[in-house]
Amino acid sequence: MSSTLTALSFASLSFFFFFSASFFISHCNGVSQQAISTVCSQTQSDELCASLLNGDPRTASADLPLFSLVSIELAQKQAARNLETFARLRDNTTGDSQAQKGYANCTSLYGKVEADLRRAHELSEAKEYEEVIKAGPGSSPAYDCFNGVNFTLSLGEITRDMLIALETFASVASYVAQQIRSRPA
Ligand SMILES: *[C@@H]1O[C@H](CO)[C@@H](O)[C@H](O)[C@H]1NC(C)=O
Ligand SMILES: *[C@@H]1O[C@H](CO)[C@@H](O)[C@H](O)[C@H]1NC(C)=O
Ligand SMILES: *[C@@H]1O[C@H](CO)[C@@H](O)[C@H](O)[C@H]1NC(C)=O
Repeated sequence: MSSTLTALSFASLSFFFFFSASFFISHCNGVSQQAISTVCSQTQSDELCASLLNGDPRTASADLPLFSLVSIELAQKQAARNLETFARLRDNTTGDSQAQKGYANCTSLYGKVEADLRRAHELSEAKEYEEVIKAGPGSSPAYDCFNGVNFTLSLGEITRDMLIALETFASVASYVAQQIRSRPA
């Protein structure tokens, strides 16, 4: 009797696993959490990187080309936010030329970040994934900006968010290029 029960529950368990496995496989054309872990392990914060990527509703069902575009657009969004903040601070700072100079520097640095990301977006649309990696702005503009202004919590926060977005973009770019390189022709 007990062996029948065991056999039965084993059968239902296999049944369950079979269906969860096929459910999983049928969703494999999206970006798996495994891929997100791999990508995010190359950044300073697995957690912030994963929440950034998972925060875009397109990620879950994205193929590699869309994954690349999503990561670039997330970085563009943050760069636009930071550019706007520093431009506003620059325009709104009077009587402290040192501070104004720092904000102006940030504004031009983020203008360059935006231009580099626009180029990366074009290359990604053209599916030139090896070039996308090289087009990225890197992290130094965000550091150079931050080092030239007085510290505040909110500037620290948008700088951190920018660094995470830039690292996430760079890591996704390498991941996508590597996946596409190793695809059977
Ligand atoms: C500009 O600065 C003033 C005074 O610090 C502040 O009240 C105002 O909200 C600021 N304007 C913008 C657009 O940030
Ligand atoms: C930092 O703050 C001090 C004091 O308010 C000010 O004199 C100085 O110009 C500021 N420097 C920068 C780079 O904003
Ligand atoms: C302005 O940015 C450059 C990098 O482009 C940096 O080397 C320089 O120290 C910055 N100057 C100020 C005042 O923040």
